[in-house]
Amino acid sequence: MKISDTSDLWWKSAVIYCLDVETYMDSNDDGVGDFEGLARRIDYLADLGITCLWLMPFYPSPGRDDGYDVTDFYGVDSRLGTHGDFVEVLRTANDRGIRVIVDLVVNHTSDKHPWFVSARRSRNSPYRDFYVWRDAPPKSTQPTVFPGEEASVWEHEPRTDQYFQHVFYRHQPDLNVTNPRVRDEIAKTMGFWLALGVSGFRIDAVPFLIEPPDGVDLGDPHELLRDLKRFLQRRAGDAALLGEVNLPYRQQLQFFGGPDGGELDLQFDFISMQALYLSLARSDPAPLVKALTSRPALPPEAAWANFVRNHDELTLDKLTDAEREEVFDAFAPDEDQRIYGRGITRRLPPMLGGDPRRIRMVYSLMFSLPGTPVLFYGEEIGMGENPSITDRTSVRTPMQWTDGKNGGFSQAPPGRLPAAPPGDGYAPEHVNVQQQWNDDGSLLQFVKRLISHYRASAEIGWGDLEILDHDADGVLAHAVTSDLGRMVALHNFTDVPVRMRLSIEPDDPETELLDLLEPGRTALDKQGRAEIDLAPYGHRWLRVSPPGDTRIG
Ligand code: NOJ
Repeated sequence: MKISDTSDLWWKSAVIYCLDVETYMDSNDDGVGDFEGLARRIDYLADLGITCLWLMPFYPSPGRDDGYDVTDFYGVDSRLGTHGDFVEVLRTANDRGIRVIVDLVVNHTSDKHPWFVSARRSRNSPYRDFYVWRDAPPKSTQPTVFPGEEASVWEHEPRTDQYFQHVFYRHQPDLNVTNPRVRDEIAKTMGFWLALGVSGFRIDAVPFLIEPPDGVDLGDPHELLRDLKRFLQRRAGDAALLGEVNLPYRQQLQFFGGPDGGELDLQFDFISMQALYLSLARSDPAPLVKALTSRPALPPEAAWANFVRNHDELTLDKLTDAEREEVFDAFAPDEDQRIYGRGITRRLPPMLGGDPRRIRMVYSLMFSLPGTPVLFYGEEIGMGENPSITDRTSVRTPMQWTDGKNGGFSQAPPGRLPAAPPGDGYAPEHVNVQQQWNDDGSLLQFVKRLISHYRASAEIGWGDLEILDHDADGVLAHAVTSDLGRMVALHNFTDVPVRMRLSIEPDDPETELLDLLEPGRTALDKQGRAEIDLAPYGHRWLRVSPPGDTRIG
């Protein structure tokens, strides 16, 4: 690997942080977070060590799906600020070495988007073909994404007596991407934000986006993604596409463009994420190992985006029914902690009973797996969900900065906030940035150290994964190796201490194992073996360090 690769393909060793401007920091105390508030927190993010901000939708929207229902792809929601404020955030972030990517939500629009307002009025509207219309719902049609909230993906429009398609809510009509005018609009939207300086896009609902409408065959649907990637490269050579593709690995590979690439650069690893929860529920890394070892080889430019939680429900849709029940029993015992029959509406710390050892083990693991880690705001301080909100938005409460009013997010009356912070043991008085900032033993400082070691260990983002054999039950031992070096990571999924024997077989017999997260060195015996202790739910990162190794972290 060349140095030029590491800088051009920045997403392969990035640390991505997702936030919603609306819930991050309110600068004018009207109760709603805004770009000016975010600008004031860029130094916090820089200090934390993140290298890429992913902004959830901030476009004008009626807000019926938290901004994923857009009425103007080129606009900025006036409650959050102006284009000028957006550019200030971008500029401040860039100045601190942080790139910004933005959500691209073009599978659908809001039903209040002027295109749809016109399209639904008349069959002769110039925008009629921007959407998908049928005289009757097709016989075989896909199920709704929101069971219990929507009955069908087709909605009758009485004015023109036809049905329009909406894979998500009925107020989110699907765009007809087989229409070249729609494709042009998507490219223009990307071009606009790229011209303002963003470094790429998180593309919403990619499989639904490229899926042609029922009965339409326009050839290979992946051509759309290839077009978008080519367009991106022409406009901004080093911009990246991060896609939301919750599909089995074999299909995900196609969304990278197959072994030769040319489509998405990054995809969330939903399969390993789901397997991780099963492993946690069983105190056994085996399901996760199975998932990780079935990851397909990726094109050299591509990477997995590793995550443990995001802004949606924790989906368990790729587990079997019995496996899902195990995870539900362990982490969502109450029916109202579950949603859509497939997911959980909680953040990680409450699911793990607040056990700091387990929480740290999970984040240590996430940062040590080949790929690019993605944090959802508040994970770095161990925020919990608001349990009195029983839908997906329970995890989208305001960022908790201090133990003061509204967690320091805003001085507005609490009733004006987008969502109430939790009132339980995860309330701002117990969990906040300010308290953890100066506490060396805090989760925040721990995550900061993980980020710094991840960034100093480019083999994690670039390396190949190897699952290591050993003699300890309940422990995941893996190595990541690239021409930059080799690192071994150990994670104990059980609540008992473990002494394990590990075989490293280094090239040089003088090689040592250098602890990265705590001070420590372990010598190898003549056969290249080491004996290593792990605390209950313990974790260790060990650099395989040959004599004369000059790496400093
Ligand atoms: C995926 C987003 O993550 C989710 O929040 C949203 O509801 C749907 N796509 C529709 O845009």
